[in-house]
Amino acid sequence: MEGRAPSSDKEKPPAVRRLRPGDVLAVSDIALRSPGAALWAPSDYERAASGECDGWVAEKNRRVVGFVIARRLADEMEILNLGVEPAARRRGTATRLLEAALKFGLRRGAKKAFLEVRASNTGAIAFYQRMSFGLEGRRPGYYTDPTEDALVLSRQLVSDSF
Ligand SMILES: CC(C)(COP(=O)(O)OP(=O)(O)OC[C@H]1O[C@@H](n2cnc3c(N)ncnc32)[C@H](O)[C@@H]1OP(=O)(O)O)[C@@H](O)C(=O)NCCC(=O)NCCS
Repeated sequence: MEGRAPSSDKEKPPAVRRLRPGDVLAVSDIALRSPGAALWAPSDYERAASGECDGWVAEKNRRVVGFVIARRLADEMEILNLGVEPAARRRGTATRLLEAALKFGLRRGAKKAFLEVRASNTGAIAFYQRMSFGLEGRRPGYYTDPTEDALVLSRQLVSDSF
């Protein structure tokens, strides 16, 4: 009789590690399949992976299934881009990625994290609200193709918040 697999990969949370130059193709591909992620050229990811920004990827079975890219500006941290492969969503992948970025920012002295998101991107807005981000402001017409307002979301970073 066939037994149940001891622990299926589906149940295992993905491992999170720093973004490397070799991840650029996988990350670009996830972004292309994630309307709502910032539309970056592969060269933007290359610059991010070579140290211009701080980036992390989530890996499952040695395959990249999500990414987050951030940058620190004085005592603030800006989340620049975030995406999870469509088939890997709603399993806590983005939560783990964002927590890794925010913990890193906190350790480096960031007191606040912020980001812009399309006003119509209700899924991402719900995700960020779940991650304790609140509405800070609105930038009218910030996005093009199509033109749309950006919501500015932010949260304070304190050491006992993770
Ligand atoms: C937004 C995004 C990154 C979330 O990734 P994810 O790995 O599915 O997120 P998580 O599984 O960690 O979600 C944690 C919680 O956030 C909330 N959430 C996440 N996605 C949601 C959605 N589409 N609708 C409503 N709530 C959502 C839920 O409360 C979820 O918990 P639950 O699944 O137990 O209900 C993913 O949907 C994505 O890649 N979207 C396209 C790109 C994008 O919009 N990026 C943001 C640019 S600003």
